[in-house]
Amino acid sequence: MSMNAQATAEQSGKRHPALQTFIDQCRAVWAGGDDTGVCMERCLPYLEEITRDADLQKRSEEWPSTEGRKNLLLYVDPDYGFAINAVVRVPGRQGSVHDHGHVWVAYGVLTGTESLERYERTDDRSRELYAELRLTGVGDGKPGKVDLVPPFDIHSEKGGPTRSTAIILRSGKLGEVIQHQYNMETGAMVPGPGPTQIPFELEAR
Ligand SMILES: [Fe+2]
Repeated sequence: MSMNAQATAEQSGKRHPALQTFIDQCRAVWAGGDDTGVCMERCLPYLEEITRDADLQKRSEEWPSTEGRKNLLLYVDPDYGFAINAVVRVPGRQGSVHDHGHVWVAYGVLTGTESLERYERTDDRSRELYAELRLTGVGDGKPGKVDLVPPFDIHSEKGGPTRSTAIILRSGKLGEVIQHQYNMETGAMVPGPGPTQIPFELEAR
């Protein structure tokens, strides 16, 4: 066992059991050495499982809002670099249209409902930091349903009529990763850092 894996195991007694199970499942997938996209796909059933955890759903009622482009940072893997986030959305939230740079993202709604809009570019990509977009689909997010967003895919998460929470598996920690926000009216593509990462311990009780 590597020193990092040892440290992970030593911390595990304190974590919420559903989170610890999810971490262990993801670590086992990454240990197989597959490409990142394959690892992410193989983790989707485990993300589905954690978003159905009744105790975690109950605990999420206490979580602080992540409005203002924030993420709760639940875990970063010391060996494989994947990160687990949570978000708490206010009712009717209108999320920006954005990508997450080179990072793979899997969204799993934990409580409430959300919708995930997907976009494609319709311009010829000849102008720097300019993009014309077309809405290609809207997925309904609810507990137990997950959505995988590959690197540079353009999307927007919209809140439902009530407060909602989600668990997100990312192939790497956001924050310093350069991603883009898209202005649908002007075509401007604005590079910048990802959401602010707020460390958040999800402990067993
Ligand atoms: Fe996103």
